[in-house]
Amino acid sequence: MLRSVLIGTGSQLPRRAVSNEELAETVDTSDEWIVERTGIRNRYIAGEGETTSSLATDAARKAIESAGIEASSIDLIILATATPDQTFPASATLVQDALGCNGCIAFDVAAVCSGFLYAVGVADAMIRAGSAKRALVIGSETFTRILDWEDRATCVLFGDGAGAILLEGREESGKIPRGILATKLHADGAHSELLYVDGGPSTTQTVGHVRMKGREVFRHAVVNLATVLGEVLADTGLTNADIDWLVPHQANARILEATAKKLGLPREKVVITVDRHANTSAASVPLALDTAIQDGRIKPGDLVMLEAMGGGFTWGASLLRI
Ligand code: UT7
Repeated sequence: MLRSVLIGTGSQLPRRAVSNEELAETVDTSDEWIVERTGIRNRYIAGEGETTSSLATDAARKAIESAGIEASSIDLIILATATPDQTFPASATLVQDALGCNGCIAFDVAAVCSGFLYAVGVADAMIRAGSAKRALVIGSETFTRILDWEDRATCVLFGDGAGAILLEGREESGKIPRGILATKLHADGAHSELLYVDGGPSTTQTVGHVRMKGREVFRHAVVNLATVLGEVLADTGLTNADIDWLVPHQANARILEATAKKLGLPREKVVITVDRHANTSAASVPLALDTAIQDGRIKPGDLVMLEAMGGGFTWGASLLRI
């Protein structure tokens, strides 16, 4: 059976790290409040010359190097982002040109914090349909550029960064096939006012700022994530006990813990980077995945569950064997 197998990962953070203490010098907040409510201790903020496409390109180069392939062999690039360099062209095309694989399919996906899961779902479907053989799937954000620094309820939560994976279509047989085993995606536009940006080209002709009713988002996130994780497991016939690692969207340590608890997974099986990276929206899952592969926690053969929930609402999960 043709499956999308993970052959490489990479990630990139901006140069500048900003601690809670440093943030509290200009924002009416404290390290204690941020750590207690979110688990965040640090975030990275993109500076001069660092953009969504530049971070994405650096993450992609590392993924290409780890896979040991030529960039020219990539035939599909999907970039998940809510903070593209420009309204158009798609930032994926800027990455494509920087990598020198001009001519292949390249487009952006907009599903905010779930964007990487959506991009994985689309790439996997295109690979299995025969539309592509090697796909570069990236989540990259410069989310701090759409924050209202006067709104302490949102500006302390987010950071910038990029993560990239390479998927390759391979015939996988045997009892324990590698690759993506199942992906489930959902959206419910009825909740768009709980998490959104108050601007855009077609409405205000401005970029706008992030607005969030955090408490309500939290409530929906815990329920939606537990449901979609169950759907993915049901689709594959696997159970909670089979999961080696949960790599969740890094929005809030309390949501991660609640989700792990619902899955019956101990904390040691959850990859947590929210303390160091904060919420990097579409970049958070591939950043966390690359972190745990690079530090040796996630190994070949491991069964890994990816999940995310974000504005829209959108949410999804994907189960893959490394
Ligand atoms: O990535 C997309 C998905 N997003 C999420 O999953 C986010 C989900 N939501 C959350 O993570 C949490 O709701 C937050 C971390 C955003 C907020 O935590 P909370 O426990 O829901 O706090 P709250 O918004 O109800 O605010 C509690 C208090 C308020 O003060 P009063 O009204 O009780 O006096 C806020 O004004 O905390 C105050 N507050 C702050 N205080 C210090 C809000 N932000 C801050 C801050 N520093 N940065």
